[in-house]
Amino acid sequence: MERPKLQVALDLQDLPSALAPLQKAAPHLDVIECGTILCLAEGMHAVRIIRSLFPDKPILADVRIAEAGSLISKMAFDAGASWVSIVSGATLNTVEAVMKEAAKHPGAEVQIELIDGWMWEQAAAWRDLGVPQVITHRSRDAEAKGALTWTERDLDEIRRLTDMGFKVTVTGGVKPEEIPQFAGVPVFVFIAGRGIYAAADPAAAAKHFQEVIAATYA
Ligand code: 5RP
Repeated sequence: MERPKLQVALDLQDLPSALAPLQKAAPHLDVIECGTILCLAEGMHAVRIIRSLFPDKPILADVRIAEAGSLISKMAFDAGASWVSIVSGATLNTVEAVMKEAAKHPGAEVQIELIDGWMWEQAAAWRDLGVPQVITHRSRDAEAKGALTWTERDLDEIRRLTDMGFKVTVTGGVKPEEIPQFAGVPVFVFIAGRGIYAAADPAAAAKHFQEVIAATYA
């Protein structure tokens, strides 16, 4: 099984606050996410700057498209994003519009963020449209309410989505000590936000995530 990648989610409210931990952690990161919060605060300027600083790393613009898929995804890809996110509540027309825009940008990929209430019939339709990635998400709000661990049901969901052909990303307050629970489960990317950018030593935190991922998927 391929070793999962490590992605930092930069959910900061201004670019300097995002760049400071990013510059430190970057050698240990596989993917950089311009988080929803950063995209809302700074716009595609944040994607453009981060692309200029890290020309070789995949960048997710976590724009969580719900509508106007063609235009929003064009803005993100033109700014240098490699991947864009769509919420699972978006219509298939919106998903199709984003897939069409992605096809104009070599290497671009689209991911659906699975928000509570999504259905397997939708997942089949996303596959039919060629969507390659999904994000399984323990929301901040659920985490705050006490959803502190990943269940066997979450792991089965990842396996089933992988069997359908999706690359599956895991996010939502992920901590290094939780990663061994995923042993044998085909995760494409683990995302850590606060666990890296809010750490006293973001480089050491990212390095530790990578070590635990490597040990879990050895
Ligand atoms: C917020 C998000 C975050 O990007 C994601 O949860 C990762 O950040 P953290 O590790 O801090 O939870 O999607 O809704």
